[in-house]
Amino acid sequence: MSRARLYAMSTLPALVVLMFFVGFANWIPQTRWSPPVRQAMGAEMTPAQLAQAGEKIVRERGCLTCHTLEPGAGVLGHGRGPNLIGIATRRAEGVTGGPGTLVDYLVQSLYEPGAYLVEGYANLMPASTRPPAKLDYGEVVAVVNYLLSLGATPSVRIGDVPQPPGGEKAVAAVAQAGAAPQTVPADAATLLESNQCNTCHSLKPGETLLGPSLAAKDLAEVAAANDMSPESYVMDSIVNPRALEREGFPKQVMPDNYGTQLTAAQLHVIVSYLLHGEGA
Ligand code: HEC
Ligand code: HEC
Repeated sequence: MSRARLYAMSTLPALVVLMFFVGFANWIPQTRWSPPVRQAMGAEMTPAQLAQAGEKIVRERGCLTCHTLEPGAGVLGHGRGPNLIGIATRRAEGVTGGPGTLVDYLVQSLYEPGAYLVEGYANLMPASTRPPAKLDYGEVVAVVNYLLSLGATPSVRIGDVPQPPGGEKAVAAVAQAGAAPQTVPADAATLLESNQCNTCHSLKPGETLLGPSLAAKDLAEVAAANDMSPESYVMDSIVNPRALEREGFPKQVMPDNYGTQLTAAQLHVIVSYLLHGEGA
């Protein structure tokens, strides 16, 4: 028997098994991303239940675009924002010059992230009541409990912490005042133009230039195919384009320095504009 034939016979069973699994994998219904369902936080929920809901929120609303959850890594971690593991231990006494209790500090971190800047980080974080996270009051309480669970025990009930200061408008004003003046974003259309996004991308559905169309519908589809929320997919594609290179398009072409060139506020304006038409 020829060598080739022998080889073919010996690999045949493995091949059959492999094809079976490939077929099987294709047959399993693909998991698809669907928009996060907002869970209303009821006054009857215990802090432990709220913490559980809070973890889901942190994972689904873009917090982990910047933050990491790295056991043992300390505050610095490897993300654009602090490592959140251990935050409740680190901040047990609040922060010098700011809130003196853990809960007050966590609440401030969510409502007015610019009020106290963690050493080594820039004023990058959008107020979490603003896009893209857009937490409502109950969700803030849930997230505070989740953060408490990272090193301490969840202890806060609905009603225990203040509502966002002065509602949505005041929070926006604080967020803007907290940012350096030159970083207050221009409107989204100007940002897309001044950063030359529109030389490579069209906003018309299905229209391909050098890069794919950035129409909301198209972006949502690619995000779903990648099992990501549209917000995280678009943000990651802009900030870290090499990690998410799209098949069928030229590689290494999209500039990979927008993450450092654009401020977080500008990035958020672009992302909400592309996905929701806001911030125009
Ligand atoms: C665009 C990046 C970004 C996003 C998105 C973001 N953060 Fe942050 N966050 C930061 C940075 C940078 C800091 C450190 C500077 C500061 O204190 O504001 C920070 C600080 C914090 C702190 C204080 C950390 C400490 O060690 O004292 C908490 C708590 C926090 N963020 C929670 C959240 C939660 C919850 C979300 C989602 C709702 C979120 N962040 C979304 C970038 C981000
Ligand atoms: C020089 C051309 C070029 C410029 C300038 C450019 N991009 Fe891209 N972009 C591409 C190409 C090519 C791809 C597809 C390959 C890849 O994923 O890197 C892409 C992918 C993307 C994606 C992922 C889309 C998808 O369907 O997967 C987003 C979102 C995106 N770009 C946004 C932007 C934004 C916002 C700007 C401006 C701040 C910008 N791009 C500037 C060429 C460019």
